[in-house]
Amino acid sequence: MDSLRIQGSGPLRGSVPISGAKNAALPILCAALLADGEHCFRNVPALRDVRTMGRLLETMGLSFSMEKNTVDIVGRPVGEPYAPYELVKQMRASVLVLGPLVARYGRAKVSLPGGCAIGARPIDQHLKGLEAMGARVELSAGYVNVEVPKGRLEGAEIVLDFPTVTGTENLMSAAVLAKGRTTLVNAAREPEVEELGRLLNKMGARVEGAGTDVIVIEGVEALEPVDHAVIPDRIEAGTYMAAAAATRGDVLLEGVTFDHLEALAAKLRAAGVVVEREGEGVRVAASGELRGTNVTTLPHPGFPTDMQAQFMVLMCTATGRSAITETIFENRFMHVPELNRMGAIIDINGRTATVEGVPKLQGASVMATDLRASASLVIAGLIAEGTTNVLRVYHIDRGYERIEDKLSPLGANIVRVSE
Ligand code: EPU
Repeated sequence: MDSLRIQGSGPLRGSVPISGAKNAALPILCAALLADGEHCFRNVPALRDVRTMGRLLETMGLSFSMEKNTVDIVGRPVGEPYAPYELVKQMRASVLVLGPLVARYGRAKVSLPGGCAIGARPIDQHLKGLEAMGARVELSAGYVNVEVPKGRLEGAEIVLDFPTVTGTENLMSAAVLAKGRTTLVNAAREPEVEELGRLLNKMGARVEGAGTDVIVIEGVEALEPVDHAVIPDRIEAGTYMAAAAATRGDVLLEGVTFDHLEALAAKLRAAGVVVEREGEGVRVAASGELRGTNVTTLPHPGFPTDMQAQFMVLMCTATGRSAITETIFENRFMHVPELNRMGAIIDINGRTATVEGVPKLQGASVMATDLRASASLVIAGLIAEGTTNVLRVYHIDRGYERIEDKLSPLGANIVRVSE
């Protein structure tokens, strides 16, 4: 299993290109299930999760090929609308095939994703929405079986209990081929949801309001294949912003959408970091002492849970105390014991982690438990004295394209060690 060996490296300097967004690409690739013909998706990040999604689409009979950052998919009628446990257990986002399959074929059998390192993560809101559109849902032997007795879903008004991101995406993708109008109330407003709306409309769908909390979808009879470039990854960008600030560096992120990063930028500025738009990029610079700053994760446009761990590392060497509250996932502090092993002083009380800033962290061997926690440990390694080994790097490879190749030119001393 690969690990990353990092030596404390001093300030990061230079510029780094930002890849396409993983969490936008995954629902977009699933949308290929909605229309036969040749789809072309550009700016797709070359990540393990994308390859897993490719395998899932292939098991259903679509052809999937990836060359650099371009994915070609030939959509065709699927043999069996079925997502097996073997693939879903590798990647929860596999559940994103559910909406398109039920919309197109009136039935689907998809493994239940189960819990994961960051929380229980049920899909009850996805299923409630499909039921409201006329589907019958049955859970059996670890699978969810969905059947639409009338053959085609019917538009409905669906009020979500919580603005779930993949739930909103699944229901949008289901509603585009339903009969009549669907209204999703309390929908997720994440940029990835807005992007899926744009993509579906390019395919001939009639989606309005994606990116706001009420989405209205007029179902159509059929959709067309599409050629589309995926938006930049705001979480990858945010991770390099946190790394630049934590090392007291000066880094230009190339090709980002600043509007997607406002909550993070506000908190970085509150901590004393310089964050400036520069053309199609964002420049992040920091020097000297940073201030302890409180953060609470919230659905977009609030502070993203996917940046909580990386921001916490920044706070580890800031002056004073910061309270970091996680409201989205119940178990997303798995990086805290690892950071404490590196000399951080962090105390967890329920959903809040209190960080007491210290002058320095010390290198150690640490274990990653999920994608964003792993990224936080890499940043910790960059600012620690001595050597840090981040084990179980496969978590990072799920969501960061060539992290060591992007950090090295900025002056980071980081190598991948294969065992
Ligand atoms: N929830 C329910 N019922 C549901 C759906 C969600 O109770 O039917 C709860 C979840 O358990 C959780 C909260 O609602 O406590 C939010 O979950 P959400 O459904 O919004 O998360 P998700 O759609 O499963 C996506 C991203 C995550 C990101 C979250 C929050 C993708 C593929 N995944 O997950 O990304 O953290 O939204 O923004 O888009 C990552 O990239 O590292 C990652 C975990």
